[in-house]
Amino acid sequence: MSPAINRQLYLHQRPSGVPGQEHIRLREVPVPRVESGEVLLENIYLSMDPAIRGWMSEKVSYTAPLALGETIRGSTLGKVVDSGHPDFCVGDYAVGIACNGWEDYTLADPTQIYKVDAEIDFPLSHYLSIYSAVGLTPYFGMLDVGRPRPGDTVLISAAAGTVGSLAGQIARLAGCKVVGIAGSDEKCRWLVDELGFDGAINYRSNLDLTAAIAAACPNGVDIFFDNVGGAILDAALMNLNNFARVVFCGAIAQYNTEAPVPGPYNYWQILARNVTVQGFLALNYRDRFPEAIQKIEAWIAAGDLVFHEDVVEGLENTVSVFSRLFSGQHKGKLLVKIR
Ligand SMILES: NC(=O)c1ccc[n+]([C@@H]2O[C@H](COP(=O)([O-])OP(=O)(O)OC[C@H]3O[C@@H](n4cnc5c(N)ncnc54)[C@H](OP(=O)(O)O)[C@@H]3O)[C@@H](O)[C@H]2O)c1
Repeated sequence: MSPAINRQLYLHQRPSGVPGQEHIRLREVPVPRVESGEVLLENIYLSMDPAIRGWMSEKVSYTAPLALGETIRGSTLGKVVDSGHPDFCVGDYAVGIACNGWEDYTLADPTQIYKVDAEIDFPLSHYLSIYSAVGLTPYFGMLDVGRPRPGDTVLISAAAGTVGSLAGQIARLAGCKVVGIAGSDEKCRWLVDELGFDGAINYRSNLDLTAAIAAACPNGVDIFFDNVGGAILDAALMNLNNFARVVFCGAIAQYNTEAPVPGPYNYWQILARNVTVQGFLALNYRDRFPEAIQKIEAWIAAGDLVFHEDVVEGLENTVSVFSRLFSGQHKGKLLVKIR
């Protein structure tokens, strides 16, 4: 039998800047009843992803903007507590990427979620971190889009973040020289000392980022894996080699701005250096997720990939936890455990 109350975080007001409690509010509604063909998930973990900020604005994106009053959409891992679909049984665990909600219970579309095995020797939360978008994104972004060759110099922005830190390690495994850009000296030390990056640049203390990249990458940059955009992208463009690849993974520097975004000012470098710039969405590689997961599992088992999870408890803390994505006050994949 379904419990009575479902707590939901919903979009009350469109944010300008980093979202706070005035934009996202908590409400209590009855738990939905399951009709034929539907599945009711009791959410356990919510994934904190920068892209969700974009869906809170009216900007055109790869998924529809959230409507005012709509429950915040996101990726979750949950347990099936009621099912009207033959493929899902009560007690199964399932993940939905970018299709479930910040709520206790999600009435899920069975075509959008997938079952995961709970009989495993790693924490269940890994299905929402390393074996989910943030693990699969650097895998396909670096290997398929970046096409690294041994000896290439790879530069990565937001390099101490989840996607960036894994992208750098994958490039290192491909035999590349890897330089990361991050927001503190501590993060830079972590990249070099623990993850084996060849160099790291603190973008907050290097006012001339173009010169700092040139110093750290004396042979130029062959692949720029960009999670940030803005001024960091402009500085990277000035350091690209002929036939370099720019992997356009994200643009977190502009997620909180409503005004038109300027630049990139150094766009001309793309022509001058015969550069390929390619955006990509990890979701488009859905058919190849098993291949990537198998490879990532092997790297972890061999001790070749290091990653962290930063798990905070309580649905009521979700909004303040989400804001940490934009201040950089987290280490590893940010998850909220709500059960
Ligand atoms: N293409 C895809 O399919 C796909 C899928 C998932 C994620 N992504 C993108 O990948 C990127 C990283 O996502 P993630 O989940 O791994 O988050 P994350 O890197 O763990 O966290 C975001 C980090 O970005 C940095 N940052 C935030 N605001 C910044 C700014 N204005 N300028 C420079 N750096 C800033 C902060 O680190 P510092 O302390 O270093 O500033 C922060 O820790 C995002 O752009 C996201 O949208 C793309």
